[in-house]
Amino acid sequence: MKKFTSIHDVQNLNGLIELAQTYKQQAFRDAQLGQHKRLVLLFFNPSLRTRLSTQAAAHQLGLYSITMNAANGWQLEFEEGKIMNANKAEHIKEAAAVISQYADIIGIRTFPSLDDRAKDYSDFILHQFIQYASVPVVSLESAIRHPLQSLADLLTIAEHKERQRPKVVLSWAPHPKALPQAVANSFVEWVAATDAELVVTHPPGYELAPEFGQQAQVVYDQKAAFEEADFVYVKNWSSYKHYGQRLAQDHNWMVTLDKLQACPDAKVMHCLPVRRNVVIEGKVLDSPHSLVIEQANNRTFAAQAVLSCLLNPKNILC
Ligand code: CP
Repeated sequence: MKKFTSIHDVQNLNGLIELAQTYKQQAFRDAQLGQHKRLVLLFFNPSLRTRLSTQAAAHQLGLYSITMNAANGWQLEFEEGKIMNANKAEHIKEAAAVISQYADIIGIRTFPSLDDRAKDYSDFILHQFIQYASVPVVSLESAIRHPLQSLADLLTIAEHKERQRPKVVLSWAPHPKALPQAVANSFVEWVAATDAELVVTHPPGYELAPEFGQQAQVVYDQKAAFEEADFVYVKNWSSYKHYGQRLAQDHNWMVTLDKLQACPDAKVMHCLPVRRNVVIEGKVLDSPHSLVIEQANNRTFAAQAVLSCLLNPKNILC
């Protein structure tokens, strides 16, 4: 593995999950692998889980991590040939090259504009870093994907599935803000790479981008979608078609205990942060249905497996 930005960078998915499981059993087994090496993490928007779990993962590999909050005050110029006489003091060409002098691996967390669909879906910022960095780049969530989250989600499903081909339902849920499609996009493409039966349910207008949405069966009736589900993955996302918009909010889409009567053994997942009693009923999060804390725990081992593969690409599990 030379970079980690999507499932397309993974050659051995089962191997990567196995490696994450191995680290979960024995976190410090490769504590020498990252010795005398540095990981620089750049966050262009806030993070709790991704930031702390990736730092924890680095620690478990003996890799020194440096985290930079780039959300405020660091205005990067991305435009080729720009006359930089306005407020942006540094060009991506120098910035990525300079960070590469200090880092053996760079992690980038970006966010979509939710205004310019073509630019967001080109994953412009992430690809500019890849182009101008001279060391491997890990996506800590990009404009359109969240692969470290998806790997942790697959690890969680692998741990809790009770049949070879579980039914996995990705359900849209209401939210007071317009959110990216990244988690949903990524979840679909990672689950589609497994044996699972994948169903996506959402109100009309929230269809995912075709390259992601076409990988799943879409059912517009949430109740029907939940029938016999083994896993219900809950997430809000804004519209792709009416790009970045919240359409008429349907609060009936909140996932409640009552709705889980259609799938009484289902496990409920969410990437977090989650708004209680808006996205998921608090009673669900407090019930044995919920896997959300285990998902967050698995973020560390997912990140550790990915960093391990970047440090040692010859590992047959990578
Ligand atoms: N799930 C997730 O990425 O959480 P953070 O935004 O806290 O990193």
